[in-house]
Amino acid sequence: MKNIVILISGGGSNMAAIVRATERDRWAERFGARIAAVVSNKAEAGGLALAAAHGIATEIVPHKEFPTREAFDEALAKVVDAHSPDLVVLAGFMRILTPGFVERYAGRLVNIHPSLLPAFPGLNTHQRAIDAGCKVAGVTVHQVTTELDHGPILAQAVVPVLPDDTAATLAGRVLAQEHQLYPRAIAGWLADTSRHIRKF
Ligand code: GRF
Repeated sequence: MKNIVILISGGGSNMAAIVRATERDRWAERFGARIAAVVSNKAEAGGLALAAAHGIATEIVPHKEFPTREAFDEALAKVVDAHSPDLVVLAGFMRILTPGFVERYAGRLVNIHPSLLPAFPGLNTHQRAIDAGCKVAGVTVHQVTTELDHGPILAQAVVPVLPDDTAATLAGRVLAQEHQLYPRAIAGWLADTSRHIRKF
Protein backbone atom coordinates (compact mmCIF):
# COMPACT_ATOMS: atom_id res chain seq x y z
CA MET A 1 0.00 0.00 0.00
CA LYS A 2 1.30 3.48 -0.85
CA ASN A 3 0.92 5.84 2.07
CA ILE A 4 -0.02 9.46 1.58
CA VAL A 5 0.53 11.86 4.49
CA ILE A 6 -1.22 15.24 4.21
CA LEU A 7 -0.01 18.30 6.15
CA ILE A 8 -2.51 21.07 6.91
CA SER A 9 -2.74 24.22 9.03
CA GLY A 10 -6.34 25.28 8.71
CA GLY A 11 -9.69 24.56 7.10
CA GLY A 12 -8.28 21.76 5.04
CA SER A 13 -10.66 22.09 2.11
CA ASN A 14 -7.99 20.78 -0.27
CA MET A 15 -7.34 17.88 2.08
CA ALA A 16 -11.10 17.20 2.13
CA ALA A 17 -11.18 17.20 -1.69
CA ILE A 18 -8.34 14.66 -1.72
CA VAL A 19 -10.13 12.48 0.87
CA ARG A 20 -13.30 12.59 -1.26
CA ALA A 21 -11.31 11.62 -4.37
CA THR A 22 -9.65 8.63 -2.67
CA GLU A 23 -13.10 7.30 -1.81
CA ARG A 24 -14.98 8.25 -4.98
CA ASP A 25 -12.23 7.12 -7.36
CA ARG A 26 -11.22 4.05 -5.32
CA TRP A 27 -7.52 4.91 -5.02
CA ALA A 28 -6.92 1.82 -2.88
CA GLU A 29 -8.03 -0.48 -5.71
CA ARG A 30 -6.68 1.58 -8.60
CA PHE A 31 -3.33 2.69 -7.22
CA GLY A 32 -2.91 0.71 -4.01
CA ALA A 33 -2.85 4.05 -2.21
CA ARG A 34 -4.45 5.42 0.92
CA ILE A 35 -4.26 8.48 3.12
CA ALA A 36 -2.28 7.20 6.07
CA ALA A 37 -2.46 10.36 8.19
CA VAL A 38 -3.34 14.04 8.31
CA VAL A 39 -0.89 16.11 10.34
CA SER A 40 -1.46 19.69 11.50
CA ASN A 41 0.78 22.25 13.17
CA LYS A 42 -2.35 23.76 14.76
CA ALA A 43 -4.63 21.87 17.15
CA GLU A 44 -7.61 23.95 16.04
CA ALA A 45 -7.27 23.11 12.33
CA GLY A 46 -10.83 22.41 11.16
CA GLY A 47 -9.70 19.70 8.78
CA LEU A 48 -8.64 17.35 11.57
CA ALA A 49 -12.22 16.47 12.55
CA LEU A 50 -13.13 15.71 8.96
CA ALA A 51 -10.11 13.44 8.54
CA ALA A 52 -10.95 11.60 11.78
CA ALA A 53 -14.56 11.19 10.64
CA HIS A 54 -13.21 9.39 7.56
CA GLY A 55 -11.21 7.01 9.73
CA ILE A 56 -7.87 8.66 8.96
CA ALA A 57 -5.22 8.94 11.68
CA THR A 58 -4.68 12.55 12.79
CA GLU A 59 -1.65 14.07 14.45
CA ILE A 60 -0.84 17.49 15.86
CA VAL A 61 2.69 18.90 16.05
CA PRO A 62 2.26 22.43 17.47
CA HIS A 63 5.05 24.57 16.01
CA LYS A 64 4.83 27.03 18.93
CA GLU A 65 6.22 24.40 21.27
CA PHE A 66 9.56 24.27 19.46
CA PRO A 67 12.34 26.81 19.90
CA THR A 68 13.57 26.69 16.30
CA ARG A 69 12.34 25.80 12.83
CA GLU A 70 14.86 22.95 12.79
CA ALA A 71 13.51 21.47 16.04
CA PHE A 72 9.93 21.71 14.77
CA ASP A 73 10.81 20.10 11.44
CA GLU A 74 12.64 17.30 13.18
CA ALA A 75 9.60 16.53 15.34
CA LEU A 76 7.33 16.83 12.30
CA ALA A 77 9.50 14.41 10.29
CA LYS A 78 9.38 11.90 13.13
CA VAL A 79 5.57 11.97 13.14
CA VAL A 80 5.37 11.84 9.34
CA ASP A 81 7.88 8.97 9.12
CA ALA A 82 5.85 6.92 11.59
CA HIS A 83 3.30 6.58 8.75
CA SER A 84 5.88 5.36 6.19
CA PRO A 85 5.01 8.00 3.60
CA ASP A 86 5.43 7.41 -0.12
CA LEU A 87 4.06 10.88 -0.77
CA VAL A 88 3.85 13.92 1.51
CA VAL A 89 1.18 16.42 0.44
CA LEU A 90 1.24 20.03 1.66
CA ALA A 91 -2.36 21.27 1.60
CA GLY A 92 -2.56 24.75 3.07
CA PHE A 93 0.37 23.99 5.37
CA MET A 94 1.48 27.47 6.41
CA ARG A 95 5.00 26.84 7.69
CA ILE A 96 8.19 27.34 5.75
CA LEU A 97 10.06 24.04 5.81
CA THR A 98 13.80 23.77 6.40
CA PRO A 99 16.08 22.46 3.63
CA GLY A 100 16.70 19.40 5.80
CA PHE A 101 12.99 18.50 5.79
CA VAL A 102 12.60 19.19 2.07
CA GLU A 103 15.64 17.09 1.18
CA ARG A 104 14.47 14.20 3.36
CA TYR A 105 11.32 13.88 1.21
CA ALA A 106 12.89 14.90 -2.11
CA GLY A 107 10.82 13.65 -5.04
CA ARG A 108 7.86 12.75 -2.81
CA LEU A 109 6.85 16.15 -1.46
CA VAL A 110 4.22 18.21 -3.29
CA ASN A 111 2.51 21.54 -2.66
CA ILE A 112 -0.40 23.55 -4.00
CA HIS A 113 0.05 27.28 -4.46
CA PRO A 114 -2.78 29.64 -5.43
CA SER A 115 -1.07 31.41 -8.35
CA LEU A 116 0.29 30.56 -11.76
CA LEU A 117 3.88 29.99 -10.68
CA PRO A 118 6.49 31.26 -11.27
CA ALA A 119 4.28 34.37 -10.89
CA PHE A 120 3.47 35.43 -7.32
CA PRO A 121 5.25 33.04 -4.99
CA GLY A 122 4.60 33.80 -1.30
CA LEU A 123 1.51 35.30 0.32
CA ASN A 124 -1.39 37.53 -0.82
CA THR A 125 -1.29 36.08 -4.31
CA HIS A 126 -4.83 37.11 -5.29
CA GLN A 127 -4.48 40.77 -4.35
CA ARG A 128 -1.09 40.91 -6.06
CA ALA A 129 -2.57 39.42 -9.26
CA ILE A 130 -5.39 42.00 -9.19
CA ASP A 131 -2.96 44.86 -8.48
CA ALA A 132 -0.74 43.76 -11.38
CA GLY A 133 -3.74 43.92 -13.73
CA CYS A 134 -3.59 40.20 -14.57
CA LYS A 135 -6.43 39.01 -16.80
CA VAL A 136 -5.99 35.41 -15.67
CA ALA A 137 -4.95 33.83 -12.41
CA GLY A 138 -4.87 30.26 -11.24
CA VAL A 139 -3.25 27.53 -9.21
CA THR A 140 -0.15 25.36 -9.42
CA VAL A 141 0.68 21.94 -8.02
CA HIS A 142 4.44 21.51 -7.85
CA GLN A 143 7.17 19.43 -6.35
CA VAL A 144 8.74 21.11 -3.36
CA THR A 145 12.36 22.17 -3.51
CA THR A 146 14.37 24.21 -1.04
CA GLU A 147 13.34 27.47 -2.77
CA LEU A 148 9.88 28.63 -1.55
CA ASP A 149 7.06 28.04 -4.08
CA HIS A 150 9.43 26.83 -6.78
CA GLY A 151 10.12 23.31 -8.03
CA PRO A 152 8.96 21.31 -11.03
CA ILE A 153 5.35 22.07 -12.00
CA LEU A 154 3.06 19.03 -12.02
CA ALA A 155 -0.25 20.68 -12.95
CA GLN A 156 -1.89 24.09 -13.35
CA ALA A 157 -5.41 25.44 -13.82
CA VAL A 158 -6.35 28.91 -15.03
CA VAL A 159 -9.30 31.13 -14.09
CA PRO A 160 -10.27 34.56 -15.41
CA VAL A 161 -9.77 37.69 -13.29
CA LEU A 162 -13.04 39.62 -13.63
CA PRO A 163 -13.19 43.43 -13.63
CA ASP A 164 -14.90 43.73 -10.24
CA ASP A 165 -12.98 40.94 -8.52
CA THR A 166 -11.76 41.39 -4.96
CA ALA A 167 -9.07 39.16 -3.46
CA ALA A 168 -11.90 37.20 -1.82
CA THR A 169 -13.96 36.57 -4.97
CA LEU A 170 -10.85 35.63 -6.92
CA ALA A 171 -9.68 33.33 -4.11
CA GLY A 172 -13.05 31.55 -4.17
CA ARG A 173 -12.84 30.98 -7.94
CA VAL A 174 -9.27 29.70 -7.64
CA LEU A 175 -10.10 27.48 -4.64
CA ALA A 176 -12.85 25.71 -6.62
CA GLN A 177 -10.18 24.84 -9.19
CA GLU A 178 -7.74 23.76 -6.47
CA HIS A 179 -10.25 21.16 -5.32
CA GLN A 180 -10.36 19.66 -8.82
CA LEU A 181 -6.68 19.98 -9.63
CA TYR A 182 -4.95 18.67 -6.51
CA PRO A 183 -6.66 15.23 -6.43
CA ARG A 184 -6.11 14.93 -10.20
CA ALA A 185 -2.42 15.79 -9.91
CA ILE A 186 -1.90 13.31 -7.08
CA ALA A 187 -3.78 10.59 -8.97
CA GLY A 188 -1.48 11.29 -11.94
CA TRP A 189 1.58 10.95 -9.70
CA LEU A 190 0.22 7.66 -8.28
CA ALA A 191 -0.56 6.31 -11.75
CA ASP A 192 2.98 7.17 -12.89
CA THR A 193 4.62 5.49 -9.92
CA SER A 194 2.36 2.41 -10.32
CA ARG A 195 3.43 2.12 -13.98
CA HIS A 196 7.04 2.55 -12.96
CA ILE A 197 6.76 -0.19 -10.33
CA ARG A 198 4.99 -2.58 -12.75
CA LYS A 199 7.90 -2.28 -15.23
CA PHE A 200 10.26 -4.15 -12.94
C1 GRF B 1 -5.28 27.23 -0.49
O1 GRF B 1 -5.59 28.34 -1.26
C2 GRF B 1 -3.90 26.73 -0.83
O2 GRF B 1 -3.59 26.85 -2.18
C3 GRF B 1 -3.04 27.64 -0.01
O3 GRF B 1 -3.74 27.80 1.21
C4 GRF B 1 -5.14 27.58 0.99
C5 GRF B 1 -5.53 26.46 1.92
O4 GRF B 1 -6.88 26.18 1.90
N1 GRF B 1 -1.69 27.13 0.11
P1 GRF B 1 -7.44 24.85 2.60
O5 GRF B 1 -6.84 24.76 4.00
O6 GRF B 1 -7.04 23.67 1.75
O7 GRF B 1 -8.91 25.06 2.65
